Amino acid sequence: MAKKTHVTTTINGQQVEFLCEARQSLLEVLRDVLHLTGSKEGCNNGNCGACTVLLDGLPVDSCLVLGVEVEAAEITTIEGVAQDSCLHPIQQCFLEDAALQCGVCTPGFIMTAKALLDRDPNPSEEEIRFQLAGNLCRCTGYDKIVRAVQDAGQIMGNQRGATSAAAQANGSRASKAKARAGSK
Ligand code: FES
Ligand code: FES
Repeated sequence: MAKKTHVTTTINGQQVEFLCEARQSLLEVLRDVLHLTGSKEGCNNGNCGACTVLLDGLPVDSCLVLGVEVEAAEITTIEGVAQDSCLHPIQQCFLEDAALQCGVCTPGFIMTAKALLDRDPNPSEEEIRFQLAGNLCRCTGYDKIVRAVQDAGQIMGNQRGATSAAAQANGSRASKAKARAGSK
């Protein structure tokens, strides 16, 4: 029986421990050991992007990463994208813009798009197409996917704007209260 390595890592914000063989990919560990089957196996050789997850915030093909390499890493899979039972704007826009058909490629596209929009919610169409170039879709023809990413970016940009406006308002309320307290 092959020797197994004990790995401790963080997946979707939770500390996770697992045993894996040195030859097992992160994709195999996610699907077969941890039963997180949202990441899909398309080619299993780094060509299709269906298995994309975020590793320390960057999109990677999990079929090309070994399970033993993720000790102490931060991993986000498609299962960790929705928050409190609310779909992430990217997921919502993929649905509303009909950016999926069979859905096999969708988790990978969403993870790559998330890495891009977390960094820049307003990328150009060229940038979106460039960043998504490692994700293949056999069904949709890509235009709807690009539109969904643009729409999601707009929502995320607005949300970010609203959050920073609220933080500024709180900050200014706090300074006024402090000034008032100081003048007493
Ligand atoms: S399954 Fe990993 S890139 Fe295709
Ligand atoms: S929706 Fe079928 S491969 Fe993309």
